[in-house]
Parts: sequence; C-alpha cells; structure tokens
Amino acid sequence: SIAAHLKDNANQIYIGTALSPSHFSDAQYQSIAAAEFNSLTPENEMKWDAVEPSQGNYNYGQADQLVQFAQQNGMKIRGHTLVWHSQVPGWVNGLSGDTLHQVMIDHITNEVTRYKGSIYAWDVVNEMFNEDGSYRQSIWYNNFQTQFVADAFTAAAAADPGAKLYINDYNIESINGKSTGLLNLVTQLKSQGVPIHGVGFQAHLAVGQIPSDLAANLQRFTALGLEVAITELDIKQNGQSQDAQAQAYTQVINACTSTSGCVGVTIWGFTDKYSWISSDNACPWDGNYQAKPAVSAIEQAL
Ligand code: XIL
Repeated sequence: SIAAHLKDNANQIYIGTALSPSHFSDAQYQSIAAAEFNSLTPENEMKWDAVEPSQGNYNYGQADQLVQFAQQNGMKIRGHTLVWHSQVPGWVNGLSGDTLHQVMIDHITNEVTRYKGSIYAWDVVNEMFNEDGSYRQSIWYNNFQTQFVADAFTAAAAADPGAKLYINDYNIESINGKSTGLLNLVTQLKSQGVPIHGVGFQAHLAVGQIPSDLAANLQRFTALGLEVAITELDIKQNGQSQDAQAQAYTQVINACTSTSGCVGVTIWGFTDKYSWISSDNACPWDGNYQAKPAVSAIEQAL
C-alpha cells in the first residue's frame, strides 16, 4: 500500500536523514525532510570544528537550528559526533597528554550538557578502527591507546544520563575483520561496566555490494545487549538501474526490521542535490526532488 509519507510506516523503527541548515533556504528541502522523516542527524553542525573552532569559544548556532527543526517536526535527534579523528579543529591537533585529555572531557561535557534531554543517541566515538580490526592511529589513540573510549563514554553519560551512547563506524556491515575488532572492543567495554548502549553501522554502500550477512552481523551485537542502528545509509547506483537500487534499499531496511534491537535507519542526506556522494546518485530522491523507486521500496519495507 502507498502511504503518504515514509514516517507514516516508521512505527517499528525510526526513519531518519542527515540534514544541514545551510540548505534551509531551499523550501523543498525543508518540506520533504519534515514530511518524510521522524529522526535527523546533523550532517556537520555538531562536529568539533563546528562547535568549538577555537578553545572555549563555543558556537552552537547551526546545531541549535537543527534541534529546533527536529522539535518543531516531531523528530528524534542523533547527535553526531563527539570524538573523531576528522573535522577536529587545528587548536586541538596541537595538544597532547593531560592537556589534550582535559580538553576532550571538557568538549564532551559542554556539548552533551547543552543538549541534555533533547538527544536520542550520541555517536560518542566515530571511526576508530582500521579495515583489519586494529586501532586507527589518531590523536586519541596515539595519546591514550583505547582508554580514551571508556573516558569519553563515561563523560557523556555523566552529562546526559538519558541519552543512548553509541560507537559508530563504516565497512562494519558484514562479518569481517573490522566488525570483529569492534565486537571484541564493545564486549570488553561492557564487561568493564562502561556506559555504552549502541553500535552504529554507517552503511555507505553500493548496488551489488549489500552484504548478505548484514542481519546476522547486526545480531552478533544485539546478542551482547546493545541496540544497533543503520546511521548513514546511502547506496551508490554503481552502473545499475534505479529498480536495483530500490531493491538494495529494501535489503538494508529488511535487515534492520528483522533484527530485534535494531532501532532505526538514517539516510545520509535524502536528495542527490546535496549528497556528499557527489556523482553516483546514492540517495532516494534525485537532484530535482523526484522520488526514485527507492522511496516506495523503503516505505513498503518499513
Ligand atoms: C561527511 C559530510 O557528509 C560532509 O559534508 C563532510 O564534508 C565530511 O563528512 N562518516 C561520517 C560522517 O561519520 O560524519 C561523514 O559526513 C561521512 C562519513
């Protein structure tokens, strides 16, 4: 059956999109986002370089715009992201040791406190693994080994005890070295009593490359008592038809709805007009806001 909007069918799981207020002057962008989705993730506006471009000078204007948009339209908010190797301002990259540690804790505490009570889930740590499951060399790992992870989650939990706290990564959708490295880490964190509640699977994918073991992989994580979510879904057309792309979207939604403990799917921008995937038509709506077959496929799979 054809419901009017995606969110009308999104009862078991939420359906979200990344948004940026830099496109809010585009009326169609706002109206489709508000009509179709019941969750949003700030595409860049809650990242460290956006909120604290120089030390102690917090700039929450654009993040606030998104929080207000979500509240006006009945959308959940996924906060993204607190500790990452990328989009870190230059002043942080010059620090090390105890000073860096305190700056990390202060950043987390300030941002999470500001939005306390408004955020469904925070991506506390983003992209900390290499493809083989070893730890990425980053300012965080190089200074603190894996201890930064427990410390970051603990600081976030202290600032907003009601938010679900996630670790998030890409290329972890199948059972592979990277996802197994992550599984081992979260198992250890849980056994240490670290307040971690969820794992985010970015799912930047391509038609013809949707892992057949996606649901089985998600279930390795829910078996630990964690919730899971698809957090940044887009599917490059990869030379295939729009119908094949729609089928690929269906596969991903089905993997989530068939996994008890998979709470939602977020698309990393709904329109090709503004997608970070600039050239391979990875979104459900095209660059002129025409719905592709993926839209009704998602609607029916929800
Ligand atoms: C991307 C944004 O979409 C771009 O606008 C920005 O230039 C770079 O970051 N993994 C993530 C997201 O966790 O934050 C990234 O977002 C895409 C990959």
